[in-house]
Amino acid sequence: MVATRTSPYDYIQPAARRYRTPWTSLNARSRGGLPAGKLVVLTGMPGAGKTGVAVQLARHLAIGGARVTVLATDEGADALAVRLGQLAGAERAALEKRDARALDLAMLYTPATLSLLADVSIERATVDVDVLIVDSIQTARSEATTTRGKRAQVEAVVRALLGAKGRGVLVIATSEMGRQEYRNLAKDPSLASAKGSGDIEYQADMVLALVTRDGGRTVNVTIPKSRIGDDKTGWTWTRDPARASFVEHQPTSPTPAHTTTWRDDARLTLWTLAITGAVLGAAALGK
Ligand SMILES: Nc1ncnc2c1ncn2[C@@H]1O[C@H](COP(=O)(O)OP(=O)(O)O)[C@@H](O)[C@H]1O
Ligand SMILES: [Mg+2]
Repeated sequence: MVATRTSPYDYIQPAARRYRTPWTSLNARSRGGLPAGKLVVLTGMPGAGKTGVAVQLARHLAIGGARVTVLATDEGADALAVRLGQLAGAERAALEKRDARALDLAMLYTPATLSLLADVSIERATVDVDVLIVDSIQTARSEATTTRGKRAQVEAVVRALLGAKGRGVLVIATSEMGRQEYRNLAKDPSLASAKGSGDIEYQADMVLALVTRDGGRTVNVTIPKSRIGDDKTGWTWTRDPARASFVEHQPTSPTPAHTTTWRDDARLTLWTLAITGAVLGAAALGK
């Protein structure tokens, strides 16, 4: 056998592509954005906001130029399409009625690199993508098993996701938490117990746990696990139901310089009055 001389630095992989998210806090927790070849799990009780966050992420990453596929097996593609349309600026009620103008508007403002799939296996959904978004792990279906049991299906789905991740795909998957897991998490936010989820949380590079507060107006995010960044501090999102989106909440930051204050408004009013007065005065003189 011939020994080949290698530099220790040959082992350093080139930095993975990073996908910036719509949220400064998540970008900060992931050292600049979610990296290619990682598995990120969004977990929480039903209604916590997992699907909403997944859809908003999908749209944002596709606008950035990534080929994004959303596999909608939980709520169905129709409900996710409505949310995507709302994010594009169309109204929910109009979209639900299949109003032609609402659909045109939604299509115009939805990037072509975004695809929404519903009736395909997880294996098919992982082809030709940069980012795969799965909603949800418990309802997706794998071709790789003939076993009917739910547990075996979930495990096969998780194997497919790990395969995609190994090929450099950024995988973002939602996973429903059971009541007991939720109680454990409420007691200790550093835990993400994984029963019934094919141990997905153990395989994940990052787990974001979502909990709704204030009757659903805000969503608290904790990071029970992260191999993507060192900072695991949580944050809060405010829901914008009209846009089906989550807006970052920054209670401690000072007023940004560009926001208008009452002083700006007063100044603007004075200028308007002065100009109107000058114009009227000139008109009166000209008569
Ligand atoms: N198209 C929509 N636009 C705005 N809000 C919606 C829409 N569909 C569902 N919601 C709201 O989102 C919340 C559920 O969030 P969701 O993302 O579906 O949670 P999860 O996926 O964790 O179950 C509910 O309060 C529901 O009323
Ligand atoms: Mg959901």
